[in-house]
Amino acid sequence: MKHYNFDRVIDRSGTQAKKLLQLPKGAPDDVLSLWIADMDFACADPILEALHRRIDEGILGYTQYKTPECMAAITGWFFRRFGWEIDPGKIFFSPGVVPALGALVSILSDEGDGIVIQNPVYGPFAGKIAGNGRRVVQNPLICRDGDYTMDFGDLAAKLDDPAVKGMILCSPHNPSGRVWTREELKAVVSLCEARDKWIIADEIHCDIVRAGVKHHPLLKLCPEYRHRIISCTAPSKTFNLAGMQMSSIVIPNPEYQALWKRQTIERTGLFHPGALGVTAMIAAYNEAEDWVDQMNAYVDENFRFAADFIARELPLARVIPSQGTYLLWVDCRGYGFSPDELAERMLHRGHLALDEGVIFGEGGEGFERINLACPRSVVAEFLKRFCRALS
Ligand SMILES: Cc1ncc(COP(=O)(O)O)c(C=O)c1O
Repeated sequence: MKHYNFDRVIDRSGTQAKKLLQLPKGAPDDVLSLWIADMDFACADPILEALHRRIDEGILGYTQYKTPECMAAITGWFFRRFGWEIDPGKIFFSPGVVPALGALVSILSDEGDGIVIQNPVYGPFAGKIAGNGRRVVQNPLICRDGDYTMDFGDLAAKLDDPAVKGMILCSPHNPSGRVWTREELKAVVSLCEARDKWIIADEIHCDIVRAGVKHHPLLKLCPEYRHRIISCTAPSKTFNLAGMQMSSIVIPNPEYQALWKRQTIERTGLFHPGALGVTAMIAAYNEAEDWVDQMNAYVDENFRFAADFIARELPLARVIPSQGTYLLWVDCRGYGFSPDELAERMLHRGHLALDEGVIFGEGGEGFERINLACPRSVVAEFLKRFCRALS
């Protein structure tokens, strides 16, 4: 087995990397960008080798997604990692989870309907709901002494509204880093089932969990409710393939499948994979398992390093204990800065481009989200700058 070197710093300038190009106005030249959720690690060798082979063939034409090879790669991964058996007939391509969320919101609800999200949460959830003329219904997470839990009483009340059609569940949860337990997930499903609501489970972060933590795919946990669950998965976070525009949406309900096909194939025709994306995904799911395990161990260590440092040097900041994702969520409210002041300090004192908590909706004010999928030397540099920003 190859031992991967995650300490290697790769210069991404000149590669059209979004993290380096989409920066706040007035960002200093030496800004350290740790906002968007992709990794600064090179992809696993088998992925890069498969891409080289594909390019060497010289033809990059139209490419099929629903081939036995591609379906076996996807189903094999989820079976090996989670014991989740997926029927390939229920798997559908999307160029991303966010486009899938937009398509699903539009086919599973009507204008003006409500859809529940659990804020603070990944911003495009609210964006795609509102962008499709639906109503964002908030079921805020409870944050007590740094621990996030769901407010089931409030969720039940929100789902009681007949105009609310369903919810988008972030599992694992970005940005809190919670990996929901079986009990929590079952409680969500039973509240939705009792009220006849659907659940879109965004499970894009499912493979990135801290040592000893287990993610439960919702469709595996609650097969009896499969007709109302849609799971969004992708190799993008797991293998650092976000620029390959590949994701796999599992839709067990035949009625929803028909609606999905109408929206994605008949109406827009936009849901076709790229040649290199398919190649990369097959190699990733089939051959890069050891890379994922090593990456997780390295990221775990980054979390330990950052949490120890912050506890020691920044006593008014609180690191939220992370169970999953490579995104550190830090409560900076102890410093008493307004969200604008905090953003200003990060950018102009710390020379840091981070995701400000406010973009995750209510409950995110005063927090910062930092991407720790980077070499340890970069984490060390971040911590130095974070101290400067807050002091
Ligand atoms: C919860 C969640 N869903 C979806 C995405 C993005 O998905 P995609 O790039 O496949 O559209 C992200 C990226 O950070 C995310 O955190």
